[in-house]
Amino acid sequence: DTPALVDSFGRTATDLRVSVTDKCNLRCTYCMPAEGLEWMPDQRLLTDDEIVRLIDIAVRLLGVTDVRLTGGEPLLRPRLEGLVARIAALRPRPRLAMTTNGIGFAKRARAFADAGLDRVNISLDTINPETFERLTRRDRLRHVLDALAAARDAGLEPIKINAVLMRGVNEHEAPDLLRFALDNGYHLRFIEQMPLDAQHGWNRAEMITADEILDLLGTSFTLTPSPTERGGAPAERWLVNGGPEEVGIIPSVTRPFCKTCERTRLTADGAVRSCLFSTTETDLRTLLRNGADDEEIANAWRATMWGKLAGHEINEAGFAQPIRPMSAIGG
Ligand code: GTP
Ligand code: 5AD
Ligand code: SF4
Repeated sequence: DTPALVDSFGRTATDLRVSVTDKCNLRCTYCMPAEGLEWMPDQRLLTDDEIVRLIDIAVRLLGVTDVRLTGGEPLLRPRLEGLVARIAALRPRPRLAMTTNGIGFAKRARAFADAGLDRVNISLDTINPETFERLTRRDRLRHVLDALAAARDAGLEPIKINAVLMRGVNEHEAPDLLRFALDNGYHLRFIEQMPLDAQHGWNRAEMITADEILDLLGTSFTLTPSPTERGGAPAERWLVNGGPEEVGIIPSVTRPFCKTCERTRLTADGAVRSCLFSTTETDLRTLLRNGADDEEIANAWRATMWGKLAGHEINEAGFAQPIRPMSAIGG
């Protein structure tokens, strides 16, 4: 028995992404329909005790060193600060981050920092209020801008912004978004849109590719490859105007980084997944609720990760989108 989460291709997962809810308060068009989705019933969601137990097993028995809370929108989970404090109290203590859309975060940033949150990534696709409303179907840009400022004031640095570009919607605002990030000291990363939307409307021809993003930015900035070591990180890094500032591009589709993937995932209803794009997953919630001991749960987790595929198959002919949309897997 190896202690760590290794797979048959020799990768080791040290980075655990935990979805704490599938609900969201925005309706980004690349993610879900205007009416929202049928949310998971409460009894299916892991309780705080169950989440803490699984993360404890991950850090003590499985070699996980980094934990990221995701959603849906993680801030919609009641009393999330309390969960953060309990995760930060585990030993060995994992590094603890969150990926959020920022709505309602401004007034809670200090409490999260005090609870032990180390870092936050905030999603923001545009700084134009009209485009924001068109893209997210909600008029909440101000909340996100306030969240970014509050995160900085609370010392949750480095603060990363995740931006998805959509053709004909926000692509031409990419340079404005980069200027905003540079002016405020945020690390901006543009993400290629992946086929994970609930509506199954993703279309390769519509996707703004990493190379296209470089061209769009190239009209306003000079970009050169950053010498910084990338490791298992998803973002390619580019120096802006000679540096030291950088911009990141996450080319999940056109230049997949599956070979260096270090991730394992837990859904809000307690399933372990070895990949965003897995077509199978392992239900740990039932094991937990049937009284399994730590070693049994750890073994089920190891077995799931051992079966991780070499990479996602978005670029293969037979690609099938996973049944769960991104909001129910975790971003
Ligand atoms: P950092 O540690 O701050 O670099 O976090 P991160 O980039 O891993 O986390 P974040 O949640 O901010 O993810 C950024 C984007 O990377 C997501 O929005 C996804 O588009 C993409 N992403 C996250 N996980 C995966 C994954 O397992 N596979 C692929 N292909 N893309 C992913
Ligand atoms: N492709 C790429 N990124 C996506 N996100 C949501 N859906 C997709 C998708 N289909 C991003 C959000 C957020 C992060 C959690 O994932 O914009 O930044
Ligand atoms: Fe909500 Fe994130 Fe999906 Fe937008 S991308 S609707 S913020 S879960």
